[in-house]
Amino acid sequence: MNPITNPFAPGAGTRPPELAGRDELRETVRVATERVRRGFSSQSVLMIGLRGVGKTVLLDAMRDSAEGAGIHTIRLESPEDRSLPALLAPELRVALLRLSSDQRAKEFAFRALRGLAGFAKALKVKYGDIEVGFDFDPEPGLADNGDLEHDLQALFETIGVAAQKAETALVLFIDELQYVCETELASLIIALHRVAQRNLPVMVVGAGLPQLRGRMGKAKSYAERLFDFPEIGPLAEQAARFAITKPAVDQGVLIDEKALIRILQETHGYPYFLQEWGKQAWDTATSSPITLTDVEAASKVAVATLDQSFFRVRFDRLTPAERKYLRAMAELGPGPHRSGDIASALNRNVTGLAPTRSQLIAKGMIWSPSHGDTAFTVPLFDEFMRRIMPGVSWLDQ
Ligand SMILES: Nc1ncnc2c1ncn2[C@@H]1O[C@H](COP(=O)(O)OP(=O)(O)O)[C@@H](O)[C@H]1O
Ligand SMILES: [Mg+2]
Repeated sequence: MNPITNPFAPGAGTRPPELAGRDELRETVRVATERVRRGFSSQSVLMIGLRGVGKTVLLDAMRDSAEGAGIHTIRLESPEDRSLPALLAPELRVALLRLSSDQRAKEFAFRALRGLAGFAKALKVKYGDIEVGFDFDPEPGLADNGDLEHDLQALFETIGVAAQKAETALVLFIDELQYVCETELASLIIALHRVAQRNLPVMVVGAGLPQLRGRMGKAKSYAERLFDFPEIGPLAEQAARFAITKPAVDQGVLIDEKALIRILQETHGYPYFLQEWGKQAWDTATSSPITLTDVEAASKVAVATLDQSFFRVRFDRLTPAERKYLRAMAELGPGPHRSGDIASALNRNVTGLAPTRSQLIAKGMIWSPSHGDTAFTVPLFDEFMRRIMPGVSWLDQ
């Protein structure tokens, strides 16, 4: 088929041609943001799921809807190496400048900007990476203690008041939240708790890997109550079918039932894989309908492409010891696996492997579904590990 009109879109954060199967969750978040805007209580939302299930594109879609409804938003992605205050400060500044164009909110947004100036100045020493333009001088005593926990709370309150005056809300869309360190997470939770207590219209819609839930609870035990943690998984069968057929049919291309079933089997309904298989099946087929034979040929290309992209970028970031650990896990199957079993596969003891396991969790490669259990955060990663480190020689490396 003509590659120019190929609708499928594999890629991290790449908007899919059809955002299938997520309407209910989008509606839940829409209701939550509207409630917050009106001063009703509502939980912040943290979407939890493995790599490639569609968290980032959902965040973007939710943000677009919120903006369309007149809600103010900011969008952050936490990298592994920058502090939360450094990410937040410039985005909050832009949001406040926008809010200040509303006459009802103007004075309050200016006050929040003074708070932001104090916040950044006071925390500059601790977080050397804070860089933000100052529109006003700080107001002494406002968010300028130099203590993140206290200052973020004060800052969120002033922002909340400004948003309330403009009859809007400020929603913070934060991706990859599992990379935020525990003390910064705790400060964020405390600040959100404070604005929630005062019914101020500030909330977070976030996304992260499965370890995020535990990290939140560890940072502040009441986080479990303050947040809703919807789990984002592979698409259910009908939605997975639709994710493939709808974009194809929109371009006048049909797909045989057997071909479709094969795609569903190969991808297990994981959104990233659906996009990859859709794309390769389209490029392989020479005419409509796409057949089982087309999909069989496309599968090889899809696997090879994923090995070079989706899986590879993660593998490249690993040390030899980390690779070996993951390879041992892969030997045991998709998982989750007991730490003891992984250690046995490596002829080591659990304690000696603990640092490697912790690094892998910090890098977002694995997580612990329950005490002593270890699972991959990337779907089908066990199969990839067996392809990239075949045979048994990895054990001696
Ligand atoms: N609901 C969906 N239906 C179809 N494709 C989707 C859906 N959600 C995500 N995708 C596709 O899956 C891939 C991964 O999405 P992304 O948001 O980056 O996942 P995550 O952030 O969870 O790793 C992208 O190519 C995207 O187009
Ligand atoms: Mg993502």
